Amino acid sequence: MCPAVWQCRVRSILIRAWSGLGRTTWSGQQTRFSIRQKSGPGQEGTFSLTEEAGLYLHWPYCQRRCTYCNFNKYIARDVDHNAMRECLVREAETLLRLSQVKRISSIFFGGGTPSLARPTTIAAIIESVAKWAQLPSDAEVTLEVNPTSVGASKLSEFRSAGVNRFSIGIQSLHDPDLVILGRDHTSQHALQTLEEAKKLCPGRTSVDIIFGRPGQSMESWEKELEELLLVCCDHVSLYQLTLERGTALFKQVQDGKLSVPSEELTARMYNAARRILGKCGFHQYEVSNFAKNDAVSVHNLAYWKGRQYIGIGPGAHGRFVPRGDGAMLREARIQTLEPDVWMREVQRCGHGTRKRVPLSQLGISEEAMVMGLRMTEGITHEHWKQICSEWSLQEIFTGSQEVEGLLREGLLIMDSRGVRCSWGGLAVLDSMLPALLNQLQMTASEERQSKQETTF
Ligand SMILES: C[S@@+](CC[C@H](N)C(=O)[O-])C[C@H]1O[C@@H](n2cnc3c(N)ncnc32)[C@H](O)[C@@H]1O
Ligand code: SF4
Repeated sequence: MCPAVWQCRVRSILIRAWSGLGRTTWSGQQTRFSIRQKSGPGQEGTFSLTEEAGLYLHWPYCQRRCTYCNFNKYIARDVDHNAMRECLVREAETLLRLSQVKRISSIFFGGGTPSLARPTTIAAIIESVAKWAQLPSDAEVTLEVNPTSVGASKLSEFRSAGVNRFSIGIQSLHDPDLVILGRDHTSQHALQTLEEAKKLCPGRTSVDIIFGRPGQSMESWEKELEELLLVCCDHVSLYQLTLERGTALFKQVQDGKLSVPSEELTARMYNAARRILGKCGFHQYEVSNFAKNDAVSVHNLAYWKGRQYIGIGPGAHGRFVPRGDGAMLREARIQTLEPDVWMREVQRCGHGTRKRVPLSQLGISEEAMVMGLRMTEGITHEHWKQICSEWSLQEIFTGSQEVEGLLREGLLIMDSRGVRCSWGGLAVLDSMLPALLNQLQMTASEERQSKQETTF
């Protein structure tokens, strides 16, 4: 998954929280990540949090514009594949050197439509990553696949290039709905692609499906999901349709030409899906993600756990410490959006970073809270200590009437493991976050005041 989605989401939640509650101006001490963690099974050595990262690569081109999508994507008649490959490889090298990470734990090729890229491009990027950092032989390497842009032979070329996980944008099994969504494939194409992917990456195939679509009823949704789960055996990402301003679908709904299910019905659809997925043996490990036989997405889990990641390609987001510059602090980075402009920048100076923002301890902790509570395991005390050694979860959440209310209602659970949402709480997480973030900001601000008083 593109980290831009999470970052936009985090930003919008933070903005909402701040506008409702009044943002503290605290910008205290910056975080130094130095806690050592063990590497995964079968891998040698230990790596500190700054020595390890995930890598996200954004392929910005699509064949057609889907009616609901506002991602950073471009419909280009002629893509200069050689120039794109050279620039992606060059930017990967530049940012890997800048971060000085020793190990890349996972790679995610997202888009746009990365299955439109040439397998040789994917291979060149993987090779370049392996040249500049340790890339364990079993590291997860995911490619997002649109059913139309691949045939079986292209999927197998991606597999030979080093991809070992496919994420297929099925979106719906109803052909009339695929037309409304502006997709250029049928459900038949999607199911064929899924079968091919399963053969190539057994146990590591994921599907994306959207609910809350125009005209969708509860009965048809339940039937559709059950049908999908007969053939999908590893991983499901479940997305509630968001009507994005500026998209064709947004306008059609605004003009009254189409209507989407009510909020109340969509919430029931989400809970019905969770129940069906559970019944079929899928474990929910995040608000939108479900895995069977522990086939979780390692790459996405790293975002939710607040780990470092490097973003390559037009519009990609990253979060890492640029140690090559002598820095000790984590930065948020965004690459230039428009592919031609981005390419010129990479050709000129080795990377197309458009914006760098140093992150404060409070900023990092806020993001970690918004992201961490999306996981069903929530935030453990140990995990929180790695992100924020200044304030414990108990310090943050004790003494707030609002938080106590959430605990009493059973929406939030706080115990010796850490803090997490209950089954009911996960469905209304967004509504709880303002109170939780407010507590975090107040704790930071009180600490700053007490430090100032001690100094004087
Ligand atoms: C941006 S797409 C990229 C993957 C690939 N190009 C595709 O379309 O299958 C990643 C996923 O985000 C989801 N998505 C994008 N826009 C959305 C929206 N407005 N509402 C809900 N889900 C959305 C879709 O399910 C999609 O599979
Ligand atoms: S193919 Fe994927 S990225 Fe491209 S427009 Fe459609 S949803 Fe967006």
